[in-house]
Amino acid sequence: MEQLQVSRPADRTMKRLVVPEHVNRNTRRVHAIGPEKTGAALLRVACDLRGLADLSGCDVLDVGCGVRFAQTILNCDVPIRSYAGVDVDELLIRFLQSEVDDPRFTFAYWDVHNPLYNPRGPRMTRESMLPVAGEFDVSWLFSVFTHLPPDDAEVLCLFLRRHACRGGRRLFLAFLDPTVATFVEKSSENPGLHSTYHEGFLRSLVERNGWRVLAVHDKDPATKFIQHHFVCGTA
Ligand SMILES: C[S@@+](CC[C@H](N)C(=O)[O-])C[C@H]1O[C@@H](n2cnc3c(N)ncnc32)[C@H](O)[C@@H]1O
Repeated sequence: MEQLQVSRPADRTMKRLVVPEHVNRNTRRVHAIGPEKTGAALLRVACDLRGLADLSGCDVLDVGCGVRFAQTILNCDVPIRSYAGVDVDELLIRFLQSEVDDPRFTFAYWDVHNPLYNPRGPRMTRESMLPVAGEFDVSWLFSVFTHLPPDDAEVLCLFLRRHACRGGRRLFLAFLDPTVATFVEKSSENPGLHSTYHEGFLRSLVERNGWRVLAVHDKDPATKFIQHHFVCGTA
């Protein structure tokens, strides 16, 4: 895989984003590889979506943003036009809002239910509103559908379509298993830890909500942190 061109910031005014452990939402194994290393590899995948060298011409919506991509973009000086991060985890969103002082970045807390990350939040419905305005060239959800039941995945597809510009692209990772009929929580005692889909079931869920599946890529055995990923275009 071609590497994303990144450089160390030399004379930028924004200070380096130092992320305390309590707002990291990646697994220990992924975190140990290095957030900026795994973040840059995933950003490369996102650039390849549109055959781009970088994201300097893109408005990006990151749902289930965590802190990794803000950290990577800022600390490695990755070109991007704008970045809107949304997450159901209030603590990490407040952290990003207070620490990131860069006009290209906005962050919004979204209080909806996730079995693992926000179990007390209200259930998402088709009437809920994603807390962002405008349209985006690229939306991505890295390691989010891997923690999401089908009802929520379906509503998110619909919302992301509403905020996609014409020709917009969307990328998300998923756990796929051909032996699963439709969907299963692999860890029954820990719902949301390993939400696993049958590829055909997930494809039709995506496609009945305004997206065309352009490609489904296998997980990358070389990196061990890039799961199966869906590349979608607006239908
Ligand atoms: C495994 S972490 C991945 C974080 C980030 N995408 C990354 O790859 O570094 C999953 C994130 O998704 C968020 N999340 C889960 N369900 C969500 C939803 N319905 N809407 C927005 N964020 C959600 C969680 O709070 C958590 O920060």
